[in-house]
Amino acid sequence: MNGMYGKDEVDSLPARWRLNYFQKLDNGKYIINPELKKEIIFRKFNLMEKVFPFRQKFHTIFCRNVMIYFKHETKIDLIKKFYDFMEYGGYLFIGHTESIPRDLTNFRYIMPGIYRKV
Ligand SMILES: C[S@@+](CC[C@H](N)C(=O)[O-])C[C@H]1O[C@@H](n2cnc3c(N)ncnc32)[C@H](O)[C@@H]1O
Repeated sequence: MNGMYGKDEVDSLPARWRLNYFQKLDNGKYIINPELKKEIIFRKFNLMEKVFPFRQKFHTIFCRNVMIYFKHETKIDLIKKFYDFMEYGGYLFIGHTESIPRDLTNFRYIMPGIYRKV
């Protein structure tokens, strides 16, 4: 988790994103532009904590292939927590093979793997 990406990993991005959001190092690897990086808080935490250790709500949550390990009740509790800790208009991205039962969440289904708090 050193935030360094190989050419093959950034090649598939639109050239404009690569130019605006990445910096190429002498070793040929890429790092996120420091200006953008300073807008991001990096923290390891346990999703099972009752309260997430962040003062501000999220605009976007990427939680791909994590809930696949959780039992149903744990998953529903976590999705509720995601909802409570998200700004209105925010998006939740989960794995393509995952889904959230529509009757058990206030998130609106957008397309496979993508939900929105409205
Ligand atoms: C299959 S990996 C998916 C990693 C990544 N999201 C991806 O799609 O490549 C599942 C991840 O869930 C994390 N995880 C499982 N239980 C967790 C918990 N209670 N709190 C935080 N992370 C957890 C594991 O550490 C692991 O990195």
